[in-house]
Amino acid sequence: MKFQKKILCIGAGYVGGPSMAMIAHKCPDYRVTVADINHERIDAWNSAELPVYEPGLDDIVKKTRGKNLFFAKDIENQIKENDIIFVCVNTPTKTFGTGAGKAADLQYLEKTARQILQYSQSPKIVIEKSTLPVKTALAMERILSSGKGKITFEVLSNPEFMAEGTAIKDLENPDRVLIGSRETKSGLKARAELVDIYSNWIPQEKIITSNIWSSELSKLVANAFLAQRVSSINSISALCEKADANVAEVARAVGMDSRVGGKFLNAGIGFGGSCFKKDILNLVYLCSYYGLPEVADYWESVVKINEYQQERFIANILGSMFNTLAGKKICILGFAFKADTGDTRESPAIYITRRLLAEHAEVIISDPKALKNAALDLADEEGKIDYIEDAYRAAAGCHALAIMTDWDLYKKLDYKKIFKSMVKPAFLFDGRNILDHKKCFEIGFNVYPIGKPALSHFKTSQES
Ligand code: NAD
Ligand code: UGA
Repeated sequence: MKFQKKILCIGAGYVGGPSMAMIAHKCPDYRVTVADINHERIDAWNSAELPVYEPGLDDIVKKTRGKNLFFAKDIENQIKENDIIFVCVNTPTKTFGTGAGKAADLQYLEKTARQILQYSQSPKIVIEKSTLPVKTALAMERILSSGKGKITFEVLSNPEFMAEGTAIKDLENPDRVLIGSRETKSGLKARAELVDIYSNWIPQEKIITSNIWSSELSKLVANAFLAQRVSSINSISALCEKADANVAEVARAVGMDSRVGGKFLNAGIGFGGSCFKKDILNLVYLCSYYGLPEVADYWESVVKINEYQQERFIANILGSMFNTLAGKKICILGFAFKADTGDTRESPAIYITRRLLAEHAEVIISDPKALKNAALDLADEEGKIDYIEDAYRAAAGCHALAIMTDWDLYKKLDYKKIFKSMVKPAFLFDGRNILDHKKCFEIGFNVYPIGKPALSHFKTSQES
């Protein structure tokens, strides 16, 4: 079959896999290939058990794989054979040298750019889909134009805004698609080609275009604004606990102002995920680099509040359980950084588990999708943790439950049955505010939500 367009994506991770599967699904006339240096990952994409859990993903991969969606290991050949190349490699925080702990580590991106240069035999459109510091396209262009040949490359920025757990829904019906390009004749032509791809299923008014630097920067800013809302409401949750207010009621009252909006105002143990912290720190680094320390401090406070929130959660567990956790069994319900994903990158549960172990608590971790990743994250603590998928078995014999992930499953458990199987007094720390706290209190739990008054069966010192 002759395909209309030949598209390659370098990087078969959480973004590369699902986003390309969606293009293949929506554009049967295009051939889409996803390549990666991680061969195990490619094998998994070609198997019945995909390396990424996303509701709805299996279905579209099944429909397209082997027809117009391919997962490949031979990156060099793929570069030769395809005309449009998405770059979707990881861009973690740098752990060494200048900017360590804040700046983005661009080594994978740069290697990819060099490979594209080395193996290209015809003009290419190279699209940054990874999240990058503003001005990265310039470095990309410089590498791509350093070859001896006459091949031309046009670099575009097309950041991805999907969230994990809802990736398929977000990719199918995004709030917007952003395409940044050079505003030259060839830049605008390449931009039009990418608009053409998305126009197969996305309404024209949702495809927005901009200059390339605005596009790169918008991605970092979008994540910073979202994370800032979470930190804002979490900071207020601390005040609510002191002032006997209820953070959910405050969030509702504030969010109903259409200028504020109600989304991303759920207080909890803080944001996790591979991107929020990394992208804000990247923004902080950029502001410092450009000599804007006040702006850098402002954004860094979003990360600091996130750390403070996790610290508060631990302090609350310790304080309410009589200042000792040694030998007590604590059941962690949920290890993924959010519901509907097996991803545990930067999950608050990692830090909280380590802190509980440092207090010599015995930890039992339960999660419907993330136990494999949890065991990898905590490999250095092997032997100290039990991993039990079934929540009832995990909770039996425990002194406390700590809810870390907003899985729907946890809202529907039989807490009466769980209470009966636990050591008394039984404690429940709802790190996601997902349960009916009054009901749990009536069952017999001492309940500690976030940003709401605790419901405890103990008498206060004044009462006793
Ligand atoms: P990931 O780690 O899951 O996947 C990246 C893949 O790139 C890995 O499989 C890795 O082996 C591969 N890779 C690295 N160097 C390579 C090379 N030279 N050649 C071929 N393959 C190479 O990362 P991810 O979560 O998919 O994120 C990718 C980018 O997208 C990041 O910049 C991230 O910030 C951004 N992003 C992520 C999300 C998300 O929800 N995870 C959403 C939007 C944007
Ligand atoms: C986020 C953004 O939402 C995406 O638009 C972006 O593309 C992506 O980062 C990225 O660049 O990687 P993601 O991290 O997958 O997506 O998930 P979110 O739904 O944003 O949740 C992030 C964290 O914030 C989770 O730990 C979640 O539990 C927490 N959160 C979210 C809250 O604590 N409260 C809220 O009200 C919302």
